[in-house]
Amino acid sequence: MPTDDLNSLESANTSGNPLHIAIIMDGNGRWAQKRFMPRAIGHQAGVKAVRKIVEYCAEQEIKVLTLFAFSSENWRRPEEEVSLLMSLFTATLQREINKLDRNNIRLRFIGDRTKFSDKLQAKMLEGEAQTKDNDALTLVVAANYGGRWDMCQAFQTIVKKMSTGELVNQSISEQLINQHLSTADLPEPDLFIRTGGEQRVSNFLLWQLAYTELYFTETLWPDFDQDSLADAIKSFKGRQRRFGHTGEQMLDKPIVLDSQGQA
Ligand code: IPE
Ligand code: IPE
Ligand code: MG
Repeated sequence: MPTDDLNSLESANTSGNPLHIAIIMDGNGRWAQKRFMPRAIGHQAGVKAVRKIVEYCAEQEIKVLTLFAFSSENWRRPEEEVSLLMSLFTATLQREINKLDRNNIRLRFIGDRTKFSDKLQAKMLEGEAQTKDNDALTLVVAANYGGRWDMCQAFQTIVKKMSTGELVNQSISEQLINQHLSTADLPEPDLFIRTGGEQRVSNFLLWQLAYTELYFTETLWPDFDQDSLADAIKSFKGRQRRFGHTGEQMLDKPIVLDSQGQA
């Protein structure tokens, strides 16, 4: 689906299912520790969970799935764990790109990729290029991503465009900022899920989560399966999203909202 169409899709509010699900996949380390195994085994089990959830989202006709794979703060982990995560990331990409392509899934990365190895950056580009025309699910992988980084890079680009004259007489509006975020061409998340029991956002999509429904579960990421996701979607469907309106307004007339809650 062309990106413009993705943006103009009606909000999940009227269709029932979330269009965009964003997940903080947390709890790999604790999953392994509970089994007296090294954290690396937890991360490997986490990759298997990713595969299942991606397949399920494609089946359910979810349009966008954003997965937080590595935060801009995760470099603070022991060197050994960071290097294991990088190898796992590269190997997983190597193995999965063709399969994603066959399943008509478009792969995208958000985050500052300049810190990754040349090999990994090349794989990321290859994955994006090979799958760019696919239009079933868009799988967005947030890697070396931080919500604050995203806003900074947006502001930096805007300032640069203003100084070179590419943007003239433009005030800093929400729309202008939106257009420069790494998610500019995607609808905002309808449903945010964090596994692993922590109830925090940990510098994920700070701007984009303004009106997202939040769902927290104790389930550790490697145990999060199709049924767990179905439970989260069920919880989402039982909620009334109001975007500042009253509950009565939402019931009285079917207000058609875009992904930013605008009528
Ligand atoms: C999430 O699991 C994976 C990454 C951050 C890469 P964790 O590794 O944070 O697992 P816990 O929170 O230590 O259990
Ligand atoms: C958030 O999990 C990042 C990812 C899942 C990639 P963390 O485990 O790093 O978050 P904190 O440190 O507990 O907030
Ligand atoms: Mg964690």
